Amino acid sequence: MSTLWGGRFQEAASSLMQSFNESFSLDKRLWQEDITASIAHVTMLGDCQIITSEESQLLQSELKKLYQAIEADPALLTGDYEDIHSFVEAKMIEACGDTGKKMHTARSRNDQVTVDMKLYVKKSLADLKVLASQMIQAFQEKGQSVDALMPAYTHLQRAQIVSFSYVLDAYVAMFERDIKKIDQAIDLLDENPLGAGALAGTTYQIDRQQTTDLLGFRAVQRNTLDSVSNRDFIIDALHCFSSLMMHMSRFAEDFIIYSSQEFRFIELSDHFSTGSSMMPQKKNPDALELIRGKSAKVISLLNAMYGTMKGLPLSYNKDMQEDKAIYFEALDTTMACVKILTGVTQELTVNEKRLSETIHEGYLNATELADYLVRKGIPFREAHGIVGQMVLYAIEKDSQLHDLAFDELAQFSAVIEADIYHELNPETILQQGIKKNMLIK
Ligand code: ARG
Repeated sequence: MSTLWGGRFQEAASSLMQSFNESFSLDKRLWQEDITASIAHVTMLGDCQIITSEESQLLQSELKKLYQAIEADPALLTGDYEDIHSFVEAKMIEACGDTGKKMHTARSRNDQVTVDMKLYVKKSLADLKVLASQMIQAFQEKGQSVDALMPAYTHLQRAQIVSFSYVLDAYVAMFERDIKKIDQAIDLLDENPLGAGALAGTTYQIDRQQTTDLLGFRAVQRNTLDSVSNRDFIIDALHCFSSLMMHMSRFAEDFIIYSSQEFRFIELSDHFSTGSSMMPQKKNPDALELIRGKSAKVISLLNAMYGTMKGLPLSYNKDMQEDKAIYFEALDTTMACVKILTGVTQELTVNEKRLSETIHEGYLNATELADYLVRKGIPFREAHGIVGQMVLYAIEKDSQLHDLAFDELAQFSAVIEADIYHELNPETILQQGIKKNMLIK
């Protein structure tokens, strides 16, 4: 393996060590960022007269050629290299001879890898934001297409009536918060570490503002020790992924339950379900179960990154190379889950008939009955007790509150009048007070 170092060594690293140490197999994914940051770096070196403008021009044009060549044929990203930085520099030495050897002036792989990862994380967060917005749109469209009421739950016990679209809107609210988290993560990372060198800057009169502008960062990252040892931006991104996965996993749990024969609230499309090798009748919600399962992994990867960083002394340590395996795995998993959940949501069908039956069972209107008594002058705590007794009576008669005869209802309170049946109606309930919000589509 040809490396960027070796002068102070008498022997090469063992092949065992070489394969243990290499990161090219993973960080080749950073090729665009590595070349882009190198173009900015050599442009700045030329403008600051640290290399000649001819050398700078040559390096810029060869870096652009390399970019185009890899774009046309990604298989070019092969060979026995320690990492993507070694690969790009080797290609420049091949193309430009001694001028290629000047590309790394006033730079270390420590600031280079950090700038590459920042550019990559920034881009991938922007991509994830687009996918998450499409998922939100799918949730909103599904909500608009379904005109059904349903029970909502606490403790998975029937609680009160809501609309189906309002349940989807709860998830939209979660995903909208996740998008804000992504924006915050992008904002926090938006400082340029390039120019920090290995850890303590450089004796060259470099222009960090120029590379900052060329690479589209908001500002220069101030402290060089912090610049090369900072992986907070990866932790922040992993937190965005974990939050999104946690919310998607909760949705998965809800809709796995809703798809069961016991509930039959929804049916998943064949496109996003699987069968059983033995039981012919089975249609399993594997897409949702995998989202729920994979959320555990993404959350663990956030923990893995915290664990990697928590004991590191300043500044760069090789432990940090592990960030790529962690980040790429978490990113790929989250992206895949967002795409799958968008499809699951677009294609699921809602059993409106079944939902319309369910809202008449389970005493979902008990709270509103207590509110009715309150409006007739009974203090809430007392009304709560009266309705509790009415529910108990209905349970014993195997009936629902709205199915009891007027005399049966009226025995519980003198304030009960014939308008009670209107008040117990699910549609009436959702037309009242702030509940009207739940009908918005
Ligand atoms: N492959 C390394 C990483 O990902 C690049 C930085 C190496 N720096 C060093 N001093 N060994 O972290």
